[in-house]
Amino acid sequence: MKVLGFLGSPRKGANTDILLEEFLKGSKSAGAQTEKIDVYDLKINECVGCFMNCFVDESECPRWSGTDDMDEVHKKMREADLIVFSSPVYCGTPPSKVMALLERCIDQKAVDMVAHKHIYNHFKDKKVVILQTNCYGDLKYQDLPLKVYDYILCEAWKMIRVGAFGVAGLLNEQDILKKPEELKKAYEMGAQLCKKA
Ligand SMILES: Cc1cc2nc3c(=O)[nH]c(=O)nc-3n(C[C@H](O)[C@H](O)[C@H](O)COP(=O)(O)O)c2cc1C
Repeated sequence: MKVLGFLGSPRKGANTDILLEEFLKGSKSAGAQTEKIDVYDLKINECVGCFMNCFVDESECPRWSGTDDMDEVHKKMREADLIVFSSPVYCGTPPSKVMALLERCIDQKAVDMVAHKHIYNHFKDKKVVILQTNCYGDLKYQDLPLKVYDYILCEAWKMIRVGAFGVAGLLNEQDILKKPEELKKAYEMGAQLCKKA
């Protein structure tokens, strides 16, 4: 089983990264092959809304394909059995670079605009997990970003969210280390989701 984890925080080695690593360690313990991509290390040309057939025919984004890292990202996403997004809450939503990545996935499905049907959809039925961190002491701040992920990944791409887990009250870079029980839950979720049936 291939697990692809996206780190959606610009702070390497901080809370969101530690949470993702724990999940991936759990996945590995169950025999999964894991890979982590730092979203903030990627070159992502933003969608400019050119409507150059990116979602009505079977081609990659005609404006940016081959000019940034997104073709490779799409390939890895298509190959993965489970995709994990680990991100901090930024202004009540997922961070902007994660949104840029998701917008640039628009060419991974094609839609018949008359019949309102998918012609193809590379991400259909792919499993996805959302991990989140935030600084205020309440998990409710993760509700809106989770809805955003659900809309994009599950409603639009028909992926299946098989898990969501979040930790609140994290401000300084390694505050999460003071919550080993939360890290254990992330590890166990990774192991559980990757264990062989
Ligand atoms: C630009 C920015 C916006 C943020 N907005 C929120 C927010 O709306 N709600 C919240 O609870 N925390 C917010 N935070 C705090 C982060 O979500 C939190 O500290 C998170 O754990 C940081 O993850 P990291 O340590 O992996 O960088 C914000 C942080 C930044 C830098």
